[in-house]
Amino acid sequence: MKVTIIGHGYVGLVTGAIFSDLGNNVTVIGRTKDKIDALNRGNIPIYEPGLEEIVKRNLKAQRLTFSLEYKESVPTSDVVIIAVGTPSQNNGEADLKSVFDVAQKIAQNLDGFTVVACKSTVPPGTNRKIEELIKKMKPEKASFAQASIPEFLREGTAIEDTLKPDRIVIGVEDEKAKKILCKLHGPLSQNTLVTNIETAEMIKYTANSFLANKISFANAISFLCEKTGADVEKVMEGIGLDKRIGKAFLKAGVGYGGSCFPKDVKALIHISKNLGYNFKLLKEVESINKQAAINFVKKISKYFKNLRNKTLTILGLSFKPDTDDMRDAPSITIINELLRLGAKIKAYDPAAIENARKIFKNSISLYKDPYQAMKGADALVIITEWKEFRELDMDKVKKLLKTPVIFDGRNIYDREKIKRLDFTYFCIGRQNAESN
Ligand code: UDX
Repeated sequence: MKVTIIGHGYVGLVTGAIFSDLGNNVTVIGRTKDKIDALNRGNIPIYEPGLEEIVKRNLKAQRLTFSLEYKESVPTSDVVIIAVGTPSQNNGEADLKSVFDVAQKIAQNLDGFTVVACKSTVPPGTNRKIEELIKKMKPEKASFAQASIPEFLREGTAIEDTLKPDRIVIGVEDEKAKKILCKLHGPLSQNTLVTNIETAEMIKYTANSFLANKISFANAISFLCEKTGADVEKVMEGIGLDKRIGKAFLKAGVGYGGSCFPKDVKALIHISKNLGYNFKLLKEVESINKQAAINFVKKISKYFKNLRNKTLTILGLSFKPDTDDMRDAPSITIINELLRLGAKIKAYDPAAIENARKIFKNSISLYKDPYQAMKGADALVIITEWKEFRELDMDKVKKLLKTPVIFDGRNIYDREKIKRLDFTYFCIGRQNAESN
């Protein structure tokens, strides 16, 4: 099949790479010449394990091309996929400007029959507006069908999530378009749910908001566990064994971040408001998420009493492991709050140093090696659970720190082991381990 994808962010790039790897002829369209030239040379602008290899393989096989021009591929494509960003505006509403700009350009280049499918996360009703716009702008002879194909990939595991998704959701009402989209997605999953367009749009917001809800629920329970002597890890294991609840996304910590959960929760609150429903539950999900980061800072400031002239080593800046993405990362809230309280910050992250430099400028010191970052610090603060932090040489850590104190925002260490090494250890939702 011939497929054009507009946008080369996480979704566009990964989808393009996988569809071309499955034997389709894919063109990915962008707006910036430098970026498109780099992509055509196989230089990937994002950190995503396994992606570069697939892109290079398909560039070489000439099944994948990056282009600035709609007219080169849109007229001859079976499917055109919109995969541009829908960032939050100040009021939480999704910004749909790019989606409509792109829809207009697609319309002007349609020829024959084309399926126009939107993968960008858009409020229910947006695909109808795209459909109306394309109807108005397309050449008279061209025909098309609109579809909504929401994306559920996670950063860091995007390839696996795209190749083996739990389900494919296709919101489509035209029979011919349904056949084409089912054929395109056929090799990826047996589990395809075909719905009307609004349902598909709603599934995406519901899935992300529900997952954010699970995380905030776990964090709220962790606040109680700290006061009662219960262990949040065991509580979540205990409830997760109930098949009706499930174990996933119940890890308490310093809160969720990233390009999707914060934005989509905000957008659904806004959509609800416009529909006359005050979605208080989701507002509380947001508020618990902020509280999770702030409570963690309170633990640190309570221990030191005064953070002025204290040096803290932060390990982990990206919003989760295996990505360099710092969008809405809890590390930003935590570090800014610690700086406000007078602490000096030294930080290390395996992938996000460059992005962190853009955010924090010179207000914190960034290191390329975790041990260098700890030299002479008053405490170690874990914000993101990168695997390499679990494997640190703890004897070396103890020697490098001025005082052996660890604040673990993701519960990555075994309390008993850490206590045996004589660290003072603070964790989330369970009893801390004080050094002797
Ligand atoms: C999410 C959705 O999972 C994905 O389906 C959607 O397409 C895009 O948004 P992503 O943002 O890449 O994916 O990351 P995810 O793995 O879902 O984690 C989001 C945030 O939640 C991270 O900050 C992570 O640390 C946090 N999290 C996740 C928890 O705090 N606890 C958990 O149990 C799980």
